[in-house]
Amino acid sequence: MKILIVYYSRYGHVLQLARAVEAGAKTVEGIEVVFRRAPEFPEVLKELEKSEHASRIWKEQQATPECSLDDLREASGVVFGSPTRFGNMIAQMKYLFDSTASLWLKGEMEGKPAGLFTSTASTHGGQETTCLTMMAPLLHLGMLVVGVPYSIPGMIHVEARGGTPYGASTIAGAKAELSPAPADLEIARALGRRVSMITKKLFS
Ligand SMILES: Cc1cc2nc3c(=O)[nH]c(=O)nc-3n(C[C@H](O)[C@H](O)[C@H](O)COP(=O)(O)O)c2cc1C
Repeated sequence: MKILIVYYSRYGHVLQLARAVEAGAKTVEGIEVVFRRAPEFPEVLKELEKSEHASRIWKEQQATPECSLDDLREASGVVFGSPTRFGNMIAQMKYLFDSTASLWLKGEMEGKPAGLFTSTASTHGGQETTCLTMMAPLLHLGMLVVGVPYSIPGMIHVEARGGTPYGASTIAGAKAELSPAPADLEIARALGRRVSMITKKLFS
């Protein structure tokens, strides 16, 4: 039974959450984790060269295959991660969603659990709106949205960090200078484990 983790990351924060989701998903026996990145736009590659940080993160991700429609089709559960762009997902992730018409037509994603994670520059930069707006296409596809319940340690907090009931999250800082808090990574791990466990229960 496969759990697909598919993400996009420019400066590495969503990538760190993705690795934590992967670690959590792998703790469930009988689950094979497939790790993929959303395809990059060719136009953006030239832009990436202008940033030393973005170039380094881009190189780090070269060994990770791009997500294909077959990856989505073959997965029994999926966890999607995108950085926030103006309170919403990044265009590259939306493009991946928009390429799933053939899966939608055949109902091939229906009934599969789906979790979400994101990163913002600032505390109130839109972690919740990004997760919530990412849910809309997933509901159209018939997926079962899995959130992060408050029983997960670290979910009730008042400090400036991630962790929302709509999905795992972190704060990158205005210049991407921050790293995910340990609790952000723990919550991401818990989300990965939760999606794996629910998927296993549904399809075993
Ligand atoms: C065009 C653009 C729009 C952005 N919009 C937001 C936003 O609405 N809220 C916010 O907090 N950060 C915003 N950011 C910052 C990104 O969310 C931040 O760089 C990202 O979370 C870092 O994740 P990554 O390290 O995985 O790339 C924006 C960045 C860009 C380039």
